[in-house]
Amino acid sequence: MATMVIFGASGDLNRRKLIPALFQLYLKNRLPERTRIVGVSRTPYDDQQWRRLLRESTESLGGGPVDGQRWDEFAKRLFYCSADVSKPEDFVELERYLRNLESGHGQGADDVERVYYLATMPQLYAPAIAHLGAAGMAAENGVSRRLVIEKPFGTDRATAERLNSQTHEVFREHQIYRIDHYLGKETVQNLMVLRFANSIFEPIWNRNYIDHVQITVAEEVTVGDRGGYYDNAGVLRDMFQNHLLQLLMITAMEAPARFRANEVRDEKVKVLRAIRPFAGDDFTNHTVRGQYNGYRAEPGVPSDSRTATFAALKLHVDSWRWNGVPFYLRSGKAMSCRSTQIVIQFREPPHLLFDEFPGANPQPNRLVIQVQPAEGIHLQMQSKVPDANMQLRLMELGFRFSQQYEKLPDAYQRLLMDAISGDPSLFARSDEVELAWGVIDPIIHAWEDGYEMPLGHYDIGYWGPDSCRTWMEQQGRQWFDVCPVLH
Ligand code: BG6
Repeated sequence: MATMVIFGASGDLNRRKLIPALFQLYLKNRLPERTRIVGVSRTPYDDQQWRRLLRESTESLGGGPVDGQRWDEFAKRLFYCSADVSKPEDFVELERYLRNLESGHGQGADDVERVYYLATMPQLYAPAIAHLGAAGMAAENGVSRRLVIEKPFGTDRATAERLNSQTHEVFREHQIYRIDHYLGKETVQNLMVLRFANSIFEPIWNRNYIDHVQITVAEEVTVGDRGGYYDNAGVLRDMFQNHLLQLLMITAMEAPARFRANEVRDEKVKVLRAIRPFAGDDFTNHTVRGQYNGYRAEPGVPSDSRTATFAALKLHVDSWRWNGVPFYLRSGKAMSCRSTQIVIQFREPPHLLFDEFPGANPQPNRLVIQVQPAEGIHLQMQSKVPDANMQLRLMELGFRFSQQYEKLPDAYQRLLMDAISGDPSLFARSDEVELAWGVIDPIIHAWEDGYEMPLGHYDIGYWGPDSCRTWMEQQGRQWFDVCPVLH
């Protein structure tokens, strides 16, 4: 038996992601029996109004009409309590409300587990945590009390450290679940399976066979109405510190001894520690930044903004496995298409046997992990063109999840379920978040303060500024610019 308390319940995240995901879990019979979901925000609603509003938003934002009867069953688990997260006294009231609700079913309130989900504005995280502590709502006393914190976790290393220590004053690390929704994506988890449940990749997953790795998170959407937030964040805080570094960690990590939260996170943290810090010219030589044309006219964006909506970084992981293998990370808004992919670019064969034949045109192998959309895996290999002497052509082996499975679940289903059942494997640990900021912070500072870094511009619908393409070509490499490689 559990209560999930969602702070920031009238916000977009709750309506768009959390409630639709919880409803899907209910439909799949995965929510533990008598789980209650209590929304908390300032707006005064009664339970009935709240349930009606959530039904509407689940239909309009969460993927179409819902089965009315099933919704009504689910809605009986939804409750609403109006409270102001910035006021300590409201937490005393909230605690009273929750205990009353929890003791309703002939069950003592002391036996009910709780998950507190902070989906509020980030500046309210610290006060909410302090007030949970002061109201005696965090102490475990034999029954679990978990805290889920949405991103962004801080805006740099110092603020992340401060938030960690404020959180640790009230909750112990095993109670804290820091969200990075990329970890809830099936294809990201599948990357671990690809690497660690198959023996054929391990021997070649290193500097001896891999020339470089490209990790691209391209978004087709523009900043739209998020300009106010985005202009302070920029692409490095919004996408790199969290999502792109998570993809890098899982691509580069060593196999953990066991698939347990701390073992997995230990290996990921080692990757962050091994990333070579930038120094001197690295800030100019190993980064590209860009802004899409039209960004400065977005609502909430200053007309002279120099915020990057696109970035590419070249990182090195200093380890035996990866010495000399650059990791290129790239992400942007307003790009050609929505496509998140990890490209493992293998080396050329050591001796090019077929070079002398006209039309041979050999190209090195490439493994593309298509994270989204068109989720799947795609391997490019050379093959002989029949009846054409020794002409070669790239041949493609592909696997698409949709060929074998129905629609993949949204990442929040998995993450909410793990938070309810107490599995923190797919959440970021305190040291992980701080180290990730430690990688990104110096680049942000170099871009914002000292260095005269050019800001390339690009039209909406391009793969970033032209300078990014030439930068790659100067290194004798090319971006793999394919809008979902699988169809
Ligand atoms: C969020 C960023 O964390 O991730 C957004 O704040 C971005 O700017 C989003 O659009 C991308 O998530 P997804 O799952 O659509 O790739």
